[in-house]
Amino acid sequence: MPGAIYAEGLVKTFGDVRALDGVDLDVPEGTVLGLLGPNGAGKTTAVRCLTTLLTPDSGKAVVAGIDVLKHPNEVRRSIGLSGQFAAVDEYLTGRENLQMVGQLYQMKAKAAKVRAAELLDRFHLTDAADRPSKTYSGGMRRRLDLAAALVVSPPVMFMDEPTTGLDPRNRLQLWEVIQELVAGGTTLLLTTQYLEEADHLAHDICVIDHGRVIARGTSDQLKAQTGGERVEVVVHEREHITTAAEVLAGFGKGEATVEQHTRKLTVPVSGGAKLLAEVIRELDVRGIEIDDIGLRRPTLDDVFISLTGHVAEEKVDENGAAAAAAQPRKRKKEAGK
Ligand SMILES: Nc1ncnc2c1ncn2[C@@H]1O[C@H](COP(=O)(O)OP(=O)(O)OP(=O)(O)O)[C@@H](O)[C@H]1O
Ligand SMILES: [Mg+2]
Repeated sequence: MPGAIYAEGLVKTFGDVRALDGVDLDVPEGTVLGLLGPNGAGKTTAVRCLTTLLTPDSGKAVVAGIDVLKHPNEVRRSIGLSGQFAAVDEYLTGRENLQMVGQLYQMKAKAAKVRAAELLDRFHLTDAADRPSKTYSGGMRRRLDLAAALVVSPPVMFMDEPTTGLDPRNRLQLWEVIQELVAGGTTLLLTTQYLEEADHLAHDICVIDHGRVIARGTSDQLKAQTGGERVEVVVHEREHITTAAEVLAGFGKGEATVEQHTRKLTVPVSGGAKLLAEVIRELDVRGIEIDDIGLRRPTLDDVFISLTGHVAEEKVDENGAAAAAAQPRKRKKEAGK
């Protein structure tokens, strides 16, 4: 039986761009699917197709047991959506925004009021509840938008980058809210650029790139697939980065990835602690002073880099240009040769 969110062969093109190129998804009821992918991979397009905001060119989508293409209105009644860009009415106060959503969903005025107050409290917005939301900070708007998506506790929820722009405390609080929702039976599809978020919250992960699913599984399965351990070194002097990278390449199974600003180098290896001791000796022989060195298992970030050739936390500015902080990297397949 298909899950609470089901898609088969979803295709959506915008002119020459195949934003979705045959995506299949199946999210069992009461579980969280983390949809990951670099900027422009098709995540938002997938969310928009599944939530009736876009019509796919072809393919099938069923949400909460309802055919999305045949009965979009019924689907809308069964889902909650928090989009990538907060959709609150700027001229209404936070409280009015939430009450309005309740009333749109045919809640009685009193019930809508009670629910709005609960959510304002939950998302730490009570103090600001009665001023127009256009005076809210970015993180406050984000929280108001998430609260709006939770007014009616729908059985199926979609959240597109829910924690982007939230400070660490609010992010952790949102994780708690999400965990409670899911414990209560809600099915959730979540997109995120924070891989530790997917690691923490998602039962299953689906990585997409160029509109296609390129990997899926649990976080552990994906890490096992990436394989091997990593040696991570922080060198003391910036000038030593290049030499250290050469040393690491000699021991590694691929190129070392370098994070210039933290002077951190990482390389996939096999050989465990013995190899680590050899690396330390060699760095010492070459006169490279190190601040830190260690052996660790692959993280979801490593999985992401090896699959897509990008780091995940690439941020796009308002003009759509990727921030310079995140350099696209060679795919491991090519780099390892
Ligand atoms: N309305 C549109 N018109 C034209 N092209 C579009 C439209 N919406 C999306 N695209 C294109 O489709 C592709 C997928 O975009 P999408 O927004 O789904 O990516 P994403 O994975 O959500 O990226 P991000 O991480 O930046 O949010 C991109 O190449 C984008 O430029
Ligand atoms: Mg997006």
